[in-house]
Amino acid sequence: MMNRRMTMTIKKLSLKSVQATRVAPFSQWLMAAVIVVSNVTVTSAMASENSIEQRQAAFSDIESNTKAAAKMIDGDETDWAALLVMSEQLVASGDVVSNAFVAGSDEGGKAKSDVWEKPEKFERLMLEMNDGYQSLLAAAQHQDAKKAKQAIKSAESTCRSCHRSYRARW
Ligand code: HEC
Repeated sequence: MMNRRMTMTIKKLSLKSVQATRVAPFSQWLMAAVIVVSNVTVTSAMASENSIEQRQAAFSDIESNTKAAAKMIDGDETDWAALLVMSEQLVASGDVVSNAFVAGSDEGGKAKSDVWEKPEKFERLMLEMNDGYQSLLAAAQHQDAKKAKQAIKSAESTCRSCHRSYRARW
């Protein structure tokens, strides 16, 4: 995407340069080009910084909301409305993390480069975690405490395995 944007910018620039040669000397055009290209680089660095912050925040929410959801399940005494809200949040956070490992965001966070270089297991565990939260949502809708517990277990079974392979310790 970055590359396409850059090519478009360059195309626009060269069009402009054709018109500009008559009014502005080449050195001025060159300076404008340098400014535009360096802005593109800054924008992409900001995009990966944002996606790192987003996934870290969403994973923190996942950690605390999964614990909170587990505590809410209490057979017929379960507060289903609250569990439903919590499940919706977990599904949303799962969505955020699964879209926040954008290419080029391997520097600055704790994700190992294997996320992009050997993504099969990463993607499988991501799907498994999100399936777990979808099942939790369905269980909350059907007020099924047993299924809700199983769904949380299934989501939780992915955390350590993925961290061991794909998260750096420091
Ligand atoms: C598919 C892989 C994967 C799964 C599944 C996964 N994580 Fe992570 N998690 C990561 C990676 C990679 C990072 C490091 C992100 C970074 O720093 O860029 C991380 C970071 C975190 C962090 C630290 C966030 C911060 O503020 O730095 C927490 C907390 C966390 N995960 C909790 C969980 C919990 C709880 C689960 C299971 C319910 C889970 N994760 C499942 C890959 C995963």
